[in-house]
Amino acid sequence: MKVQALLQTSFPKLKLFAKGKVRDIYEVGDYLLLVSTDRISAFDVIMEQGIPYKGMVLTKISEFWFNYTKDIIPNHMVTTNVEEYPSECKEYADDLIGRSMLVKKAKVIPIECIVRGYISGSGWKDYKNTGAISGISLQKGLQESEKLNKPIFTPSTKAEIGDHDENISADEAIEITDKKTFDAVETASKNLYKKVSGYALTKGIIIADTKFEFGKVNGDIILVDEVLTPDSSRFWPLDKYEKGRGQESYDKQFVRDYLLSINFNKQPPPPPLPEDIIKKTSEKYLDIYKKLTGQSLI
Ligand SMILES: Nc1ncnc2c1ncn2[C@@H]1O[C@H](COP(=O)(O)OP(=O)(O)O)[C@@H](O)[C@H]1O
Ligand SMILES: [Mg+2]
Repeated sequence: MKVQALLQTSFPKLKLFAKGKVRDIYEVGDYLLLVSTDRISAFDVIMEQGIPYKGMVLTKISEFWFNYTKDIIPNHMVTTNVEEYPSECKEYADDLIGRSMLVKKAKVIPIECIVRGYISGSGWKDYKNTGAISGISLQKGLQESEKLNKPIFTPSTKAEIGDHDENISADEAIEITDKKTFDAVETASKNLYKKVSGYALTKGIIIADTKFEFGKVNGDIILVDEVLTPDSSRFWPLDKYEKGRGQESYDKQFVRDYLLSINFNKQPPPPPLPEDIIKKTSEKYLDIYKKLTGQSLI
């Protein structure tokens, strides 16, 4: 069966609020409607083809974690049940079912709240160059993918589409936010990581690192955006984990590896993705959903 990926939405009767790399966001009264398309970005460039089921997987995984973490911090989720959406959404139900979430509109705190339990990606790069990540000095001699003594909070800037996020120090993050907000999101991020990484381990998955976003509603800080999805986290299969090298991961690795293999210059326009890369990536997304939640999406 060939399944069509959804790349764009068009809901003329709803007010478009923003289009992100992956999500189309509509404003409905005091709420936002987050619609996860099947778009995929790699090296911050959005590919021309979509990944079937990706938008659904992102939405369902976020929903799962919002429920699982609401005792730590409240979040923006109102419902994913289209029947409970405001009436003006209902004529778009076919595109909304399974891939959308009605959320409270928040004033987003403009830093990316990254927690790392293992050293990888840009953290590994920074550590190799400076011995530190986001101004946090780490012990000498760490190997790639090694588990850290304790998880660290390494905020980054929230780049505009096309730009790359940059790790920043606590002082820089406090400058962008304020001390009280910074302390609150740091504590929440670490507490969230602790709970979810422990759960994931019982399912055979290491959450190496992850990115949270927070927002304010009437002065209260809540968890927003997507949470603990393959797009916002590094998930590694526990049984294949070994420090001293990069790990296989449950996400866009096939896409990234393919792009590297053809020497993609990381600038638009992107090259077309071969059919088997699209199919394998779709399977990876479905697989992680099943591993984490024990349920099948299709
Ligand atoms: N509850 C919320 N209120 C306002 N903005 C939100 C909320 N949740 C998420 N957002 C914003 O919506 C956007 C999500 O779309 P996405 O495609 O992930 O964008 P990006 O390309 O910035 O990652 C992000 O910019 C995020 O900050
Ligand atoms: Mg995003």
